[in-house]
Amino acid sequence: MVKNVPVLDLDAIIDDPGTRIIVCCGSGGVGKTTTAAALGLRAAERGRCAVVLTVDPARRLAQSMGLSELDNTPRPIAGVGGEGNGKLYAMMLDMKRTFDEIIEAHADPERARQILTNPFYQSLSSSFSGTQEYMAMEKLGQLRRSGEWDLIIVDTPPSRSALDFLDAPERLGRFLDGRFIRMLTAPAKAGGRSAFKLLNAGFGLVAGALTKLLGAQVLKDLQMFVSALDAVFGGFRARAEQTYKLLQAPGTAFLVVAAPERDAMREASYFVERLAEERMPLAGVVINRVHRSPAAVLSAARSTAAAEDLESRGEHELTSAVLRLHADRMQLAAREQREQDHFTSAHPTVPVARVPAMPEDVHDLDGLREVGTLLAAQ
Ligand SMILES: Nc1ncnc2c1ncn2[C@@H]1O[C@H](COP(=O)(O)OP(=O)(O)O)[C@@H](O)[C@H]1O
Ligand SMILES: [Mg+2]
Repeated sequence: MVKNVPVLDLDAIIDDPGTRIIVCCGSGGVGKTTTAAALGLRAAERGRCAVVLTVDPARRLAQSMGLSELDNTPRPIAGVGGEGNGKLYAMMLDMKRTFDEIIEAHADPERARQILTNPFYQSLSSSFSGTQEYMAMEKLGQLRRSGEWDLIIVDTPPSRSALDFLDAPERLGRFLDGRFIRMLTAPAKAGGRSAFKLLNAGFGLVAGALTKLLGAQVLKDLQMFVSALDAVFGGFRARAEQTYKLLQAPGTAFLVVAAPERDAMREASYFVERLAEERMPLAGVVINRVHRSPAAVLSAARSTAAAEDLESRGEHELTSAVLRLHADRMQLAAREQREQDHFTSAHPTVPVARVPAMPEDVHDLDGLREVGTLLAAQ
């Protein structure tokens, strides 16, 4: 076991009034949503006015928090205890609605209508990979600007790779700013300037080919969408950049959530390195769903040997089954420990908190409260 791994003190982080944003990231299924909700509840019960921006809460968890509706605004959560005046709000991200709201806020009504009803917009806003990540960041920016909460906890989309959260908005920006789009919009922009003549000729060719490929109506839709979006554009990029800066600010704390398994720990490693490159403040790593054995004094090897002995004599079947189960559990714990050691020896200064695997899914406030207690009790 790697010694002297710094301990992640989550109460110190959520109690610090300087902490304004906590971002929970990590690969799929490791417990990001659970961690975000548990920290939100704990922060509220310790006196803060917190909002949790969830992306994909499991249905039972969402129901128990009263989040059965996707209405894209934070709702107060009932049943929050504690002695202070803390409050907990939560919302589920509606990516398309968020996108629509940006369009509505930045384009005049006629142009907004043109964009919103355009088939290309409809597919971009509901399915483009990266749109969810972009909109999560956009929503974070909105919540922060509203100034209504003193702590915002962000859950990140269920992408396969944790890095998508940082990369996707730029990808979307690149797409919206890409050559393809510039080519389509060039004729409108170029006016009569001679330098653009060549480009226009090129566009004619491309448009000709596209018309054949897509049909005239579709091409018209596409062009209209692109030139209408162009008006909102500057807005898009500038906001993505602003939110990026927000993520780099000292009031932000990134938590990388991981399960003690090879892929998740490797993903956590990449993410930690990437945050350092981007100068984004890492608070630490939460290793979730760790298996421990309450009878660790008996090793896997001795347990297996004893089971074999009993089996060879054909006695005490139940006892040997229990011994085998214990051996499996000890082996799992050892495997998990090795994965954690890999990580901590590569990143010896990164604070770590461990949360044990609970016997059941976490699907209500009591469960979240328990996870919060476990997160804080390192
Ligand atoms: N420590 C834990 N013990 C037991 N179950 C857990 C634990 N943490 C999370 N879970 C369960 O694992 C599932 C996935 O968790 P979730 O937070 O939705 O992951 P993610 O948001 O990273 O995809 C959920 O059903 C949740 O209740
Ligand atoms: Mg999730």
